[in-house]
Amino acid sequence: MLGKIALLVLSCAACQAFILGRNQSHWDGLKVTWGINPFSSFQGVPRTKAEATSDGWVKMDTGTACQNGPFLGERFWKDSDLGVILLYDVNGYIAGIQAGIEKNYSPNPNHYPFPPLVSHPMVANGARFFITAYFVPTDKICSTGRTETEFRTQGTGTGLWIQNGTNPLTDSEAIPMTIEAARASRWTEGKCFISMGDHFWYNLHKDMSCDNLYPMFLLYNDNVLNGFGWAFAMNIQSSKRLEHPGQSVYGSFMKEVPTCLSSLGTLTTLHIYLTSSAYGDTC
Ligand SMILES: *[C@@H]1O[C@H](CO)[C@@H](O)[C@H](O)[C@H]1NC(C)=O
Ligand SMILES: *[C@@H]1O[C@H](CO)[C@@H](O)[C@H](O)[C@H]1NC(C)=O
Repeated sequence: MLGKIALLVLSCAACQAFILGRNQSHWDGLKVTWGINPFSSFQGVPRTKAEATSDGWVKMDTGTACQNGPFLGERFWKDSDLGVILLYDVNGYIAGIQAGIEKNYSPNPNHYPFPPLVSHPMVANGARFFITAYFVPTDKICSTGRTETEFRTQGTGTGLWIQNGTNPLTDSEAIPMTIEAARASRWTEGKCFISMGDHFWYNLHKDMSCDNLYPMFLLYNDNVLNGFGWAFAMNIQSSKRLEHPGQSVYGSFMKEVPTCLSSLGTLTTLHIYLTSSAYGDTC
């Protein structure tokens, strides 16, 4: 009897959250890359500029400006990997994350990004396109920044904003923080995948044109947003952090897989976790 109860409790996601004392709204981490190999996946990335510097991340831009081109925050990358670029506010606390694509990257048979995605959200800057998400209100990043106390109590951030235009202050769109809000929005509910969460895609339809496939998805666990990710219709082989899901698994993330996806070839994705453990992500 006791054994049965224990089994029941362990297999129930809500109870598990209770047992582990997890609060999925409290973003106590920042991890990237889903995978079956724990040594190369779910890797924590630094949430302060000081930690980044000591961990081998280097500045992408010259100078000490907080705003670089159309993006807010000092940008850091590691091993010249465009797959994960971290953004820090004026005080050196994490403010966002970005991924980049070389404009002349070859092979890019799809000539990605497709025209409807250019500038929103794929913002051109020099020889590259970038997609950018912020974890704190954009007007704070390069003005006051966060205090140490705010960072300690708030964690990775207080919300999620996607830069959907060339002006990060006016074009950043707030992402729904609860699954109820997401269901009432233009984000389309997909499927739950353990160790990821319940996926939401932007305005997804079976008969849509993949030119409009928005390269961001959202992840909800325990009914709240605790992760998200990128999905590009191009095969980017230059980053060891990026993922390449096969055609056969699209149906595990989407309720209705758009027909156009079958002719797009290999996609590139990245799962980004805002909490410290993806293992508790049971939707
Ligand atoms: C969960 O975390 C959020 C964000 O930090 C906080 O506002 C909320 O009060 C927490 N809930 C509980 C039950 O501790
Ligand atoms: C981004 O901007 C485009 C162009 O204005 C718009 O069609 C799309 O709905 C926006 N996406 C989001 C997530 O706000």
